[in-house]
Amino acid sequence: MTVPVLTVEKLVKRFPAGRSGLFVNAVNSVDLSIAPGETLGMVGESGSGKSTIGRAILRLTEPTEGKITFDGRDITRIPDREIRPLRRDMQMVFQDPWSALNPRMRIGDLIAETMKLHLDLSKTERENRTVRLAERVHLRPEYLRRYSSDLSGGQLQRVCIARAIATNPKLIVLDEPTSSLDLSVRAEILDLLAEIREQSRAAMLFISHDLGTVRLISDRIVVLYLGAVVETAPGEALFADPAHPYSQSLLSAHLPADPEAKLSRHLLVGEIPSPINLPSGCTFHTRCPVAIGACRNEVPGAERIGDAEHYANCLRIAEGGNRIKPTEAA
Ligand SMILES: Nc1ncnc2c1ncn2[C@@H]1O[C@H](COP(=O)(O)OP(=O)(O)OP(=O)(O)O)[C@@H](O)[C@H]1O
Ligand code: SF4
Ligand SMILES: [Mg+2]
Repeated sequence: MTVPVLTVEKLVKRFPAGRSGLFVNAVNSVDLSIAPGETLGMVGESGSGKSTIGRAILRLTEPTEGKITFDGRDITRIPDREIRPLRRDMQMVFQDPWSALNPRMRIGDLIAETMKLHLDLSKTERENRTVRLAERVHLRPEYLRRYSSDLSGGQLQRVCIARAIATNPKLIVLDEPTSSLDLSVRAEILDLLAEIREQSRAAMLFISHDLGTVRLISDRIVVLYLGAVVETAPGEALFADPAHPYSQSLLSAHLPADPEAKLSRHLLVGEIPSPINLPSGCTFHTRCPVAIGACRNEVPGAERIGDAEHYANCLRIAEGGNRIKPTEAA
């Protein structure tokens, strides 16, 4: 079996909830791993802990509990001075390219900046490489002399992607890289990321609240609910046969309303509970159309569903009660 480039074990992150003395349970015992070259999609509603997991992996936030292993090394609690060298191998692309880029620097210098920080290259080597990187992200060479205010959102995100791949990282964390862009530009950036994924050997963690977007780019997908993984599956398996009732609900929102369809259309009812006061047992029980009494008390473990890489956390999988039937749909 391939050794993962990244392993996250029982990751917990709690934030103080103001001065109340209570805590926001942002991430609750998350396990995941990414193989070299693999793209793992992470999907969940707003507030489900996606960015916090991404930031903990990048060591931009301190994990409360758990273990993060990157490239064979435990990085959970490494000191700040050791984080910087780690950035060469672990890069990031954020949602908002406007705030990620210094408006006073030329685009060429912005792309060269990560190389300057992390690679031992001469000025000429850096400049040549900057031109090649601009080509790889399909940015016209004349843009290299301009400033971020001269470029569109899509072009700026290309700059951020060029910066992220400049050091040939082993992992790139992309947190909603297309959601601040116009619809027409989103597809272009996704195409570019798919191209980069084919050419480079970097593993990717692709975070999005949109299942459709995640599907286009991911080998495997993890579905999050209230800071916990509820299902992990290869993209095709998740779309063909979502096992967790929450995944079924998310997926059904993508389907045309068809009473004959295997997966009926049923939207979630009720508000997402507060992460300050998590529901007991299975945290989805307050909204789950197929919940039973035990769901209030028992925390479901990961159950394997057919495929060796397909797991879901639901108590009703063994008896088949996890499938939402049209009559149970809200
Ligand atoms: N620095 C912080 N202090 C307090 N609470 C925080 C902090 N950062 C995040 N949270 C809380 O942690 C929970 C998870 O937030 P997170 O930003 O990780 O979710 P997300 O899935 O990325 O959401 P979105 O789709 O809106 O980006 C939320 O309830 C959020 O309010
Ligand atoms: S454990 Fe119970 S509440 Fe949770 S998803 Fe399964 S059926 Fe629904
Ligand atoms: Mg987020």
